[in-house]
Amino acid sequence: MERTLILFKPDAVQRRLCGTLLSRLETKGLKIVGLKMLRVTKELSAKHYAEHVTKSFYPLLEAFITSGPVVALVAEGPNAVAVVRTMMGPTNGQQAAPGTIRGDFGVSRQMNLMHGSDSPEAAQKEIAVYFQPNELVSYESSLKDWVCAADEVK
Ligand code: RTP
Ligand code: MG
Repeated sequence: MERTLILFKPDAVQRRLCGTLLSRLETKGLKIVGLKMLRVTKELSAKHYAEHVTKSFYPLLEAFITSGPVVALVAEGPNAVAVVRTMMGPTNGQQAAPGTIRGDFGVSRQMNLMHGSDSPEAAQKEIAVYFQPNELVSYESSLKDWVCAADEVK
């Protein structure tokens, strides 16, 4: 089982799409094991987007991600990192296919609603940036036998 870090970005909160996005994750079969609302500070933004801090677009990215509250989640499931990236679609909503979250809800490169870790290694780091270990809840879902066959779950 894999875990991934998801953010509903400030545009998703302001547009009141958090419930819709959470519902898509749940109905996909992912298990939510952490969930909170917070305001991303400049320091947190630099930790999260460390790979982008030196890029020319970083000041705009920082201004956007710190502009209002976000919802941070940890979702668990088989290949959760890749599954969530596929659900989100590519960065720019103008290129994202209908059926993906960015394709269904946005037309922007910056205001693209949702972040999802792009590798298992990034997920581990990002989960530690947003959540203390005791904020993550391990539990057995009573639906688990109906979401995946036993040989699909590592
Ligand atoms: P995210 O990290 O937020 O899930 O998005 P992503 O993987 O699809 O895209 P990434 O390349 O990691 O870029 C992070 C965020 O930076 C903004 N961006 N702006 N102006 C630009 O060229 C540019 N490129 C990226 C986007 O808001 C993107 O989500
Ligand atoms: Mg990224």
